[in-house]
Amino acid sequence: METAENKGGVPRQPQRVLLLYYSFSGQTMGLLNRLAVGLKEQGVEVVMEKLRPVEPLRFPIGTVMATFKMMIITLFRRRVAIEELSDVCRQEFELIILAGPTWSYNPSGPILTMLDRDGPVLLRDRVVLPLISCRGYWRMHWYGLRSILRRCGAAVPNYMVFSHPSPEPWRTIGVFLKLAGKNPERAMLIGRYYRRFGHTRQQMDEAWSFGRMIGEALQNGTPLAGFNFLNKISVP
Ligand SMILES: Cc1cc2nc3c(=O)[nH]c(=O)nc-3n(C[C@H](O)[C@H](O)[C@H](O)COP(=O)(O)O)c2cc1C
Repeated sequence: METAENKGGVPRQPQRVLLLYYSFSGQTMGLLNRLAVGLKEQGVEVVMEKLRPVEPLRFPIGTVMATFKMMIITLFRRRVAIEELSDVCRQEFELIILAGPTWSYNPSGPILTMLDRDGPVLLRDRVVLPLISCRGYWRMHWYGLRSILRRCGAAVPNYMVFSHPSPEPWRTIGVFLKLAGKNPERAMLIGRYYRRFGHTRQQMDEAWSFGRMIGEALQNGTPLAGFNFLNKISVP
């Protein structure tokens, strides 16, 4: 029987995607896991590589003072030393998805270190699609990241953004308190307006559908630039 795979006698190689990411409080990782399922359902081979700080960072940070300090330090794009990447990252991939949180309007410290240290070699002539997980303020992060990636010689056809869907000002207060180790969802006053930290199940499903869209586009050779990865759920 003739199938798509054996048409013309040439077996089709699966497309390969590297998911290169950092996640401090698990939000990026949750989105990526679902996105990876969507990619795999389209027959894409997925390799996941997490950036590992040399000195592991602990979530939650633990105190209000330490959280405030981290907010200030990260505003100045403090790098965080990371372990060497696995050799698998240097293999051929049709696409690299570079994913991580926004830290004080910038990419996170581990991602900045990877870009400084490995970017010019690892990302040169690669197609890189960033995925940003944030509370809601991602534009500076995106513009800065895009220009670093271009300087590394990468092609950046598009980007994905997921914001926490809680309303302001509760979202900002809630994220800060959560980072400081509190439980704002259960607090008497804030808990009425701030129901959950992070992304919703609907957003995880959306990440899965993005995975399917990307997988299908890679299989068909459709340019990724034509997609809109910002919609109502992702960016309220
Ligand atoms: C130090 C620090 C600074 C942050 N600064 C921002 C910010 O400027 N804008 C924003 O939208 N979210 C900010 N956030 C929130 C995270 O981007 C958000 O919670 C994200 O979903 C976390 O992803 P992760 O769990 O994968 O680390 C900050 C978080 C931390 C820890």
